[in-house]
Amino acid sequence: MRMFGKAGKAAAVAAITALALTGCGRSEPTTGGGTEGAGGFEEGASIAVALPQKTSENWVLAEKLFNDGLTDAGFKPDVQFANAGVSEQQNQISAMITKNPKVLIVGAVDGTQLGTQLKQAKDAGATIIAYDRLLLNTENVDYYVAYDNFKVGELQGKALLEGLQAKKPSGPYNIELFAGSPDDANAKVFFDGAMSVLKPKIDDGTLKVLSGQTSFEQAVTQAWKSENAQRRADTLLTGNYTSESLDGVLSPNDTLARAVLTSVKAAGKPIPVITGQDSEVESVKSILAGEQYSTINKDTRKLVEHAITMVKDLQAGKELEINDKDSYNNGVKTVPAYLLEPVIVTSANVKTAYTDDPILGPITK
Ligand code: BGC
Repeated sequence: MRMFGKAGKAAAVAAITALALTGCGRSEPTTGGGTEGAGGFEEGASIAVALPQKTSENWVLAEKLFNDGLTDAGFKPDVQFANAGVSEQQNQISAMITKNPKVLIVGAVDGTQLGTQLKQAKDAGATIIAYDRLLLNTENVDYYVAYDNFKVGELQGKALLEGLQAKKPSGPYNIELFAGSPDDANAKVFFDGAMSVLKPKIDDGTLKVLSGQTSFEQAVTQAWKSENAQRRADTLLTGNYTSESLDGVLSPNDTLARAVLTSVKAAGKPIPVITGQDSEVESVKSILAGEQYSTINKDTRKLVEHAITMVKDLQAGKELEINDKDSYNNGVKTVPAYLLEPVIVTSANVKTAYTDDPILGPITK
């Protein structure tokens, strides 16, 4: 198995044991690789979609897109959120299976906690697609569809460096690091992608993390909650930046970037260069206003559209289009994946990045 194609990424990714979620070593688009594909199933079948909490706008958008897209394609969608967390999602999936879905699409709250339910789904004959977040430590996942998570982190790391250099040509720069929720399989991958860019600069002294909190475990934000990021930012600021400047912040997504900015403003400090992800409306406005430095465009419409294409192909008994057969080991198996390319957005391209987006297009015109 080719888990890591580029030597430069190896160090950052070495910490991932069960996961090998990089976009590198990517194979050319191909078909097959999954365990399904032959036979198909009846038109109008029930398709279950289990989504996590509404921790960012992309999940809320996905609900509507799945409902509309699956209905338009002639399926019966059963789309549910698990706002109360893991046990709600477990119960939901068990209940979904009683409606005999032919495909179960899962955006997991915690990708390690659904083993029993995924086995039930598989035993009932469903094909299982991990959506956006990989399902871990189970053989009962057939496909993965997501934006390239490692690449997201790399783009964030590069944007942070570029933003800092644009403000002040040479370092050292003081930065702090934030990561997502440790139960989300993506969070560590985003962080490792970013650290593949930032760690060499921390090691050579260009970047200084005055709190000393440079590990994923120290940087995490439980449940992706703004209040948790804001509280940690408050503590970091009072503990380390009363007389020093905070030049930059790695934030894994837009919701948390705005939480950190709230903290910085409350402390009366200058706005640092800060990254994000998801192209949330308020963050895109913040980029336009010159506050948040960057976000990532992971167009939810394209991700849902591809998930629905997978469902259609399964229904028709066709082989699925897979463009990464090697990178996504979930601890038990390598899951055939279809990865989409994330795009970095800063003030340099914010006015052109969303021209075909019905929500963000009009805002950025
Ligand atoms: C998604 C991100 C999102 C985060 C919090 C992750 O799994 O990939 O786009 O910001 O969840 O909702």
